[in-house]
Amino acid sequence: MKFFIDTANLAQIKEAHDLGVLDGVTTNPSLMAKEGITGEENVINHYKAICEITDGDVSAEVISTTFEEMIAEGEALAKLHERIVVKVPMLKDGVKAIKYFTEKGIKTNCTLIFSAGQALLAAKAGATYVSPFIGRLDDISTDGLTLIEDIRTIFDNYGYTTQILAASARHPMHIINCAKLGADVVTAPLAPILALLKHPLTDNGLAQFLADHAKAAGK
Ligand code: G3P
Repeated sequence: MKFFIDTANLAQIKEAHDLGVLDGVTTNPSLMAKEGITGEENVINHYKAICEITDGDVSAEVISTTFEEMIAEGEALAKLHERIVVKVPMLKDGVKAIKYFTEKGIKTNCTLIFSAGQALLAAKAGATYVSPFIGRLDDISTDGLTLIEDIRTIFDNYGYTTQILAASARHPMHIINCAKLGADVVTAPLAPILALLKHPLTDNGLAQFLADHAKAAGK
């Protein structure tokens, strides 16, 4: 399973990259705003800076919501760097735009996926990735992980090569359960990724090993 980091924070992207486990980056307008990145030139430079850190795909989301505007915006984003993936919202015009980008050889990530039907449409249009938002489904008392399972079944039934990019992952168990269910990618903030490192028995065991070594060495 691939690990993407879901942030526009350059320091956190670098930290995940330096850990050696980073396969890509996802951003969205909210994450860019959180870093204070506004204005076309700043946004463009920020995407370029992200592409310089990671070797993997970098999702850059269009702000437009009509077909013509999404095409113009997506083509401009795709030209920024070979690693840019155009992130397109799940809309009727978005599906048409994904089909257009697919035919042009431009990678896409269909975002704001909350149902298996939406994922199926995006896959039929040729999306490189679909992004089901598991945390936001959990937020409204539904089961985000069931959606990952359903999409996995549908894609496997028909051999769709569109990758399931589980998004809105909020904690380490989201990541582990997505891996169990066969998501191709999970994108998460840095904290849940680093939380996978931790286990109290690891800490206790290491403390004991080091104490025993010091004792045997007469320290
Ligand atoms: O990748 C989508 C993600 O940024 C949404 O996460 O936590 O805002 O639901 P969240």
